[in-house]
Amino acid sequence: MPQLDFPGANPQGVELAQRLFVIHDQMRRDMDEFRRLVTAVVDGIGGDAAARGRLQGAMDAFRQRDWQRILPRYCAQFCSFVHGHHTVEDASMFPVLQKRNPDLAPRIKQLVEEHGRLVEHLDQLQQMIRLLPGDPSLGPKMLAKVGEVAELLSAHLEYEETHLTPTLVRLTYADIA
Ligand SMILES: [Fe+2]
Ligand SMILES: [Fe+2]
Repeated sequence: MPQLDFPGANPQGVELAQRLFVIHDQMRRDMDEFRRLVTAVVDGIGGDAAARGRLQGAMDAFRQRDWQRILPRYCAQFCSFVHGHHTVEDASMFPVLQKRNPDLAPRIKQLVEEHGRLVEHLDQLQQMIRLLPGDPSLGPKMLAKVGEVAELLSAHLEYEETHLTPTLVRLTYADIA
């Protein structure tokens, strides 16, 4: 858990920061799971018997066997979770934080740009997943793309926690109402 005892911190602000960390940690776990699933599918399509066995194992974890239905659905849920969180940040949290601490402006500008980049990458990934059943040669590109998304998202979450937490812990519920 990132540091929370910054000057001016109050219990409500600390709780707001903790809520953000909980969402981010869930996003990190979902990203790992998504990447694991994409890797299992790509390996399973182009791989040997052992790779196909790993794909079956991954599918069993979802209690289903049809990756052509499971993977697009999982991807859509993950994209919607990420996009929903970023929409709230762009519309509510960032403006409040920037008002409280105008020095955050360049940090917030970068974070908003990263939200835009993540949407583009996730849209491309969704498109590849839709096309994969008819074009298995897309597999390696998909693996590279999911790796790129994972790296960008991980760096984004860490940057956000590092630079926004000192101001976030000074807010109260009334500030974000
Ligand atoms: Fe964000
Ligand atoms: Fe966030």
